[in-house]
Amino acid sequence: MNWQTFDSADALSDHAARLFLHAIQSNPRIVLGLPTGRTPIGMYERVVRECRREYRCFRDVVTFNLDEYAGVPREHPGSYWMYMQQHLFAHVDVDTHNIHIPDGTAADLGAECIRYEAAIRQAGGLELTFLGVGRNGHIGFNEPGTPFDARTRVVELTPSTRAANAEFFPNGEVPTRAVTMGIGTILESREIVLLAAGAGKHEAIERLRSGAIDESFPASALWKHANVTVLAQEPS
Ligand code: GLP
Repeated sequence: MNWQTFDSADALSDHAARLFLHAIQSNPRIVLGLPTGRTPIGMYERVVRECRREYRCFRDVVTFNLDEYAGVPREHPGSYWMYMQQHLFAHVDVDTHNIHIPDGTAADLGAECIRYEAAIRQAGGLELTFLGVGRNGHIGFNEPGTPFDARTRVVELTPSTRAANAEFFPNGEVPTRAVTMGIGTILESREIVLLAAGAGKHEAIERLRSGAIDESFPASALWKHANVTVLAQEPS
């Protein structure tokens, strides 16, 4: 695991954006795994800024988001579909046919998970996946205790994850379930970059850095992968 530390969230975002832009420039047809959350916003901002200058950045890029809330319509301001529009897709020349986000409103969520896995396979698999990390070590919405070989599926959100995301659902109806790529799905990405910054992540960063591999801490599964870079903000 390759560790790089930064003394500010801005410096971390600059570096993450450089990795992102380099990847899509070196392989304009790249298949990306993409995260949501507060941490990657700075990376997306910088990618958008650059791609506005050099239009055509995203023309053939294929994207798969890690997760989506169950039962939340796309148009809901708290949906990850909306997040991706707001922070990336609405500002770049991505082909909407190349955007994949699990449909959390599908009538049959089990079938939706199978369809999502098949779509990733059909696209040739994930080449590069960016991840955030929850305070409890979750990646995507794979909460503590998730088997490391789990595939895309419907999950129950823990109270702490619901609390961490409550501000995006101001009417108080924080979703209880989500569709997430599994840890096994994520580990099949040929390269992974994890971003960890901001308040409350120090413990998670230290636990990951310790190298102890344990299903009670989902991010530790990344130690089983040969090509992972962690970009971590050091506490000030
Ligand atoms: C959510 C997302 C995760 C993300 C995590 C951390 O739960 N499903 O993919 O990594 O939040 O978010 P933040 O960056 O806001 O701390």
